[in-house]
Parts: sequence; C-alpha cells; structure tokens
Amino acid sequence: MATIMMRVRQIAGIALYLGLANAQEASWRSPVNVLSRKGLVADQISTIWWFLFSTASLVFLVVITLLLIALFKKGQAVPKGPVQENSSVRPILYLGTGLTIIVLLITAVYTFISMRTLAAPSQKPALTFEIVGKQWWWDVRYEGESISANELHIPSGEPVHFSLHSDNVIHSFWLPDLAGKRDLIPGHPNSLWLQADEPGTYRGSCAEFCGVQHGKMNFTVIAEPRAAFETWLEHARAEANAAVSEEARVGQAIFMQQGCAGCHSIRGTAAQGEIGPELTHLSSRLTLAAANIPNTTGHLAAWIVDSQSIKPGNRMPSQKLSGEDLQFLLSYLMELN
Ligand code: CUA
Repeated sequence: MATIMMRVRQIAGIALYLGLANAQEASWRSPVNVLSRKGLVADQISTIWWFLFSTASLVFLVVITLLLIALFKKGQAVPKGPVQENSSVRPILYLGTGLTIIVLLITAVYTFISMRTLAAPSQKPALTFEIVGKQWWWDVRYEGESISANELHIPSGEPVHFSLHSDNVIHSFWLPDLAGKRDLIPGHPNSLWLQADEPGTYRGSCAEFCGVQHGKMNFTVIAEPRAAFETWLEHARAEANAAVSEEARVGQAIFMQQGCAGCHSIRGTAAQGEIGPELTHLSSRLTLAAANIPNTTGHLAAWIVDSQSIKPGNRMPSQKLSGEDLQFLLSYLMELN
C-alpha cells in the first residue's frame, strides 16, 4: 500500500512539474504562425497573402468549373484548324487572355505597392541591433558590443532596425509573428526592420539550412513598453556582478581555469573568448542552447556536462568536471543575473 501511495505521489509530482514547466515555457515555445498580424510588417504580409490566396482560389474555381462544363456539355465538335482562325472560339480566347492579363496586372501592382511599403518604415527606427549568425546560435550586438545571445528585448509600438551579418555560412533571421525572413550572408550586411504592436514573447528561428544543428538555431524576442526596454538595455550593457558567495568565487576560478573563458566572455572579468555566446547576464535569460531548453540550474548542469547529447555536433565540448566543481561552477553562473 505504502509503495502504491509513493508511486502515486511521484506521478503527481512529475505531472505537476511538467504542467508548471509547460506554463512557464509556453511563451518562448508557443507555436509560430506565418499569418500572424502582431506587427506592422507581419500585418502587410498577411494581407497580401490572403489577397493572393483568394485570387488564386477564385481563378482555380472558375477554371475548374469551365473545364467541367466543357467536359460534360453535349454540343458541336470544334471544327478542325488553327484556333485563331476559328471565329466561334475567338471571343472566348480574347476574354480568357484579357482576364488573365488583368488579374496578373492587379496582383503585380498590389505586390509592388506592398514591397515598397515594407522596404522602409514611415518613421525612422531609433534603434539598431546587430545580429551575427553563428553555428548554431545568434550573437546580439548593440553599438559594436555583444550584449546577449539568442535573446533580445525590443520596445513595442515602434519600428526596430536589424543589421544582419554572418562570419560563417548563410543563415536566415525569421520571426514569423512579426516579419518575413531575411538572409544573413557572409561578407554582405543585410538589413531588416520590424515592429511588435503589442508587448509579448515571440519565437524566432533560422530559416536557411546552415549545418547539422540548423533545426535548433532558435531565438526569443521580448517586446515590452519603452521604459522596461530601456531598463533591460542598460542592464544588458552593464558589466557582470562580482561573485558574491564563496561557492561562486570558487566557481569563477574554475570557469577561468577550465577553459570556459577561452570561448566565452563575461564583461568585467578576464573571460574574453569570442567563440561561444557571451555570458555576462546568463541567468537573466529565458533559455539556453539557442532557445532549445529552459534556463534552469538543472538544464544548465546538463548542458555543461553533456551538451553533445542535447545538441549533437554543437561547438561546445562536453565538460569533464567533478560533481563538486560542477556545483561551484553552477553557483557562479547562476549569480550572473
Ligand atoms: Cu542558421 Cu540555419
């Protein structure tokens, strides 16, 4: 009986954990929608998509109806000879060609107008973020300095400009709820603007095959009111907190000796590596491993010791650490808020 009760408690605990975890993760894990209208650009794209879809559906229905009528209608056979010389077919030919040209002209003009509107916002963006595509994560820079990885905040209700770069292969920056995709091409800076009409958490991903972990190259954009955004930006640009607890101080020494500092940077410390994501305010981020796992102590521990199981082929080697050293390292990293 006692064993059964223990099992019931375990199952209830797991269910509760999964429920809570899902509730917390829903924001950055929620499915994306390419027809979403959560921003100015997305709204335009959605409108033109529906317009083209309705026009194409209408044309399809008309053509199929005419085809069925032609198939089942009993009547005179069309006389042999070139269609152009057949006077009874000629009006239908002209009507069909004329209607096709009109429909194509309308869709072309409407598409050009939409492209013009999407090319630049009416109000010049006050903010530019630089996004550098890495294998397989996103470096977020502001005024030439890395301030975050795989996660950034933007002010809602205003256009934001992105300067897109890659120093390796071609990636594509795609936030379906807010804008269309734009490629990051090595040696050719690209540009994108978007606007989130409402505060919210939006999920993005890489939309151009870029190697083994292309499928796990995601990111999160958090739109929030101007004041909250400015607080975030100031904090993101600030140097890291000094390690407070004794465990964190030991952890910091391990970070510097273990080789972590060779790849990662933490502003305000000796760690200046440029290969992996910068970690200055790591514990304030929602996710780890390019928006693939939640940022909890447990997930961070799993990532450090066995990142290759979570994201096979990624550039971070799984670390061999004693349990004790791992705890110290975690204490340090979790203080980086
Ligand atoms: Cu980066 Cu696909």
